Amino acid sequence: MTAKILDGNALAQKLRADFKTRAEALAAQGERPGLAVILVGEDAASQVYVRNKVKACEAAGFHSENIIFPADVAPQAVLDKIALLNADPKIHGILVQLPLPRNFDSDAVLEAISPAKDVDGFHVENVGALMQGQPRFIPCTPYGVMKFFEEAGIDLKGKEAVVIGRSNIVGKPMAMLLLHAGATVTVCHSQTKDLLFHTRRADVLVAAIGRPRFVTADMVKPGAVVIDVGINRLPDGKLCGDVDFEQVKEVASAITPVPGGVGPMTITMLLGNTIEAAERALNR
Ligand code: GUN
Repeated sequence: MTAKILDGNALAQKLRADFKTRAEALAAQGERPGLAVILVGEDAASQVYVRNKVKACEAAGFHSENIIFPADVAPQAVLDKIALLNADPKIHGILVQLPLPRNFDSDAVLEAISPAKDVDGFHVENVGALMQGQPRFIPCTPYGVMKFFEEAGIDLKGKEAVVIGRSNIVGKPMAMLLLHAGATVTVCHSQTKDLLFHTRRADVLVAAIGRPRFVTADMVKPGAVVIDVGINRLPDGKLCGDVDFEQVKEVASAITPVPGGVGPMTITMLLGNTIEAAERALNR
């Protein structure tokens, strides 16, 4: 079997066309969606992500602010900036790019963002709402993954879903969304004893590990849907996912490529969350 390729660029383009229309409607009512992105330090990968987020905002007709602090900035200066953005009516979404430098209390920074502007969905209040099945902002990467299932008509009810990775950004919210969609969910991680046992039972396998080509064909149940959240840079400069795409596409029924899979969807859902925030601001 050769898997159906789930094309993140095509799906992102389709969703962004809808977002652009909604952004224009908001702008016409004086509520142009605005996103502020804060980056602390010079991490190369983070710089690329932030640049792409700002570019996507501009293409969608949003107001955007890109705030860059040096790595040695006092954490209080970042908190002060967040307080200003919380009160700024031009800004509907605030995102602090992670990871922050080691001397930062990342939780305190995330809790400083107004829950109503927390378009990453990382504030405890929004995490709790998601856990209870009443999400206000869904974290962008797992939100994008759910859009693939929706687009491909993949019904998750009763499916065995296995998530590899338990981060707050991907693994945990992903598990929660799959659970709410009716899947039976297993979360595997670095301490899991028999990973193979779990992955081979998975009808839906989500890899969010951060290790290049970690998931090989022998780990995948024939006909499974395989979602690759990884973005790893190889020594030759090329990007690859957490899944050995060439092997696994011969076993899976559907698979996301890297690049061109989950990546473009993450930024797309950030735009979606920012529009939602602006629509809520208008209705308040
Ligand atoms: N670092 C890696 N992924 C993300 C994300 O989705 N949001 C933020 N803020 N930082 C990240």
